[in-house]
Amino acid sequence: MGPQISVLISSFPCLLPLLLSLIAGNHVEASYMDRRVFAFRPTKMFVFGDSYADTGNTWKNESTAWKVPYGFTYPGKPSGRWSSGHILTDYLALSFGLKSPIPYQWRQAGAKYLKYGMNFAHGGTGVTETLVAYPNMTAQIGLFEQLIKDSTFSSGGLNTSVTLVTLSGNDYSAYLARDRSFAGLPAFITSVVMQLKTNLRRIYDIGARKVAVGELQPLGCLPSNTAANSFQQCNGTVNLLVGLHNQLLRQAVADLNNQTSSSTFIILDLYDSFMSVLNGTGDSKFETPLTPCCSGVNSGFYCGSVDGNGTKMYTLCKDPESRLFWDSNHPTQAGWRAVFSGLSAS
Ligand SMILES: *[C@@H]1O[C@H](CO)[C@@H](O)[C@H](O)[C@H]1NC(C)=O
Ligand SMILES: *[C@@H]1O[C@H](CO)[C@@H](O)[C@H](O)[C@H]1NC(C)=O
Ligand SMILES: *[C@@H]1O[C@H](CO)[C@@H](O)[C@H](O)[C@H]1NC(C)=O
Ligand SMILES: *[C@@H]1O[C@H](CO)[C@@H](O)[C@H](O)[C@H]1NC(C)=O
Ligand SMILES: *[C@@H]1O[C@H](CO)[C@@H](O)[C@H](O)[C@H]1NC(C)=O
Ligand SMILES: *[C@@H]1O[C@H](CO)[C@@H](O)[C@H](O)[C@H]1NC(C)=O
Ligand SMILES: *[C@@H]1O[C@H](CO)[C@@H](O)[C@H](O)[C@H]1NC(C)=O
Repeated sequence: MGPQISVLISSFPCLLPLLLSLIAGNHVEASYMDRRVFAFRPTKMFVFGDSYADTGNTWKNESTAWKVPYGFTYPGKPSGRWSSGHILTDYLALSFGLKSPIPYQWRQAGAKYLKYGMNFAHGGTGVTETLVAYPNMTAQIGLFEQLIKDSTFSSGGLNTSVTLVTLSGNDYSAYLARDRSFAGLPAFITSVVMQLKTNLRRIYDIGARKVAVGELQPLGCLPSNTAANSFQQCNGTVNLLVGLHNQLLRQAVADLNNQTSSSTFIILDLYDSFMSVLNGTGDSKFETPLTPCCSGVNSGFYCGSVDGNGTKMYTLCKDPESRLFWDSNHPTQAGWRAVFSGLSAS
């Protein structure tokens, strides 16, 4: 996931229609609110990670997510989210009856902006040096710590907060882009998960008590990895490596929960949820699940590309809501809704 791949932002004014449709339609609420670990009503949400969680932190001058046709479905124009509309963060906030927290980039002086928490996630980043090196997760947590220190909002208030952390593969794409060997990946994966564990522990030490960590999604099924076979099948080799990441992550989270004598950390099973949407065993089915809605006209271009004359160099499907994937790495709003409603936490 290069720089053009990685952001999501939000403008959260009109979640009401969505909220109503969720209440009317499905079990998003049940999947979270009933769970022991979230058996309290959070009043705010903090978010760390990358484009799978970013709702507006990338710079407009540097980010594809601020280009047409991003935001096509919601809010109807680019909002900095790497999708056609709402993303994981929005659906998670909604399931708690919260507004999607404001992106850090949009903060203003004053504690009232902390009412719903804050989103520090920044597209393209990871826990190590990626192609978008700053702010990596360590730096995002630093901003959070500073905010807690500076504001009248005390760390005590964190006991009614929930935290979302995503790590969606930018560390790995940067590793491969630097031409490091494929064979070296298992060792690198181990170091990435160790760094993530350190970061999670720090979030706890600052005072967060309910932290949901996303598994790595099946990277081998993303359009960027299936384009070579015309979006016909997932790359199993890549998914095996994803399996290693997720296994190490589960171990890390078990250790952390043991160290902190609590069930502070939970895992969101993004891998299985994506897989069941992909293989049609979930509630939502997509006809051509591996084919993205928006792609560059050829490999030199990407969703949102224009040439020097402003002519668009990408194609857009007729109905983004009929596709799971929006661009080569990110789900559409319908895709996120489907993945979210299939999630369970453990
Ligand atoms: C984009 O804007 C930010 C903030 O104004 C600035 O710091 C950064 O240098 C700009 N980047 C480019 C490539 O112009
Ligand atoms: C994260 O970014 C900070 C600030 O740019 C840097 O000092 C640090 O080495 C980075 N951390 C990792 C694990 O790459
Ligand atoms: C949260 O912390 C505050 C301040 O330390 C305390 O007054 C409050 O009772 C705590 N709430 C819960 C739900 O633990
Ligand atoms: C799967 O991905 C790996 C790493 O990018 C690549 O070397 C391999 O050729 C791919 N396999 C298939 C069947 O496409
Ligand atoms: C939890 O930690 C203790 C002390 O470090 C250790 O003895 C125990 O085996 C651990 N339990 C699990 C389930 O990892
Ligand atoms: C579909 O995905 C789910 C979740 O990963 C898995 O348990 C199931 O075996 C898969 N079914 C098929 C037919 O591949
Ligand atoms: C812009 O359009 C002109 C006229 O059609 C064409 O000659 C030129 O190559 C185009 N420039 C770019 C950057 O595509």
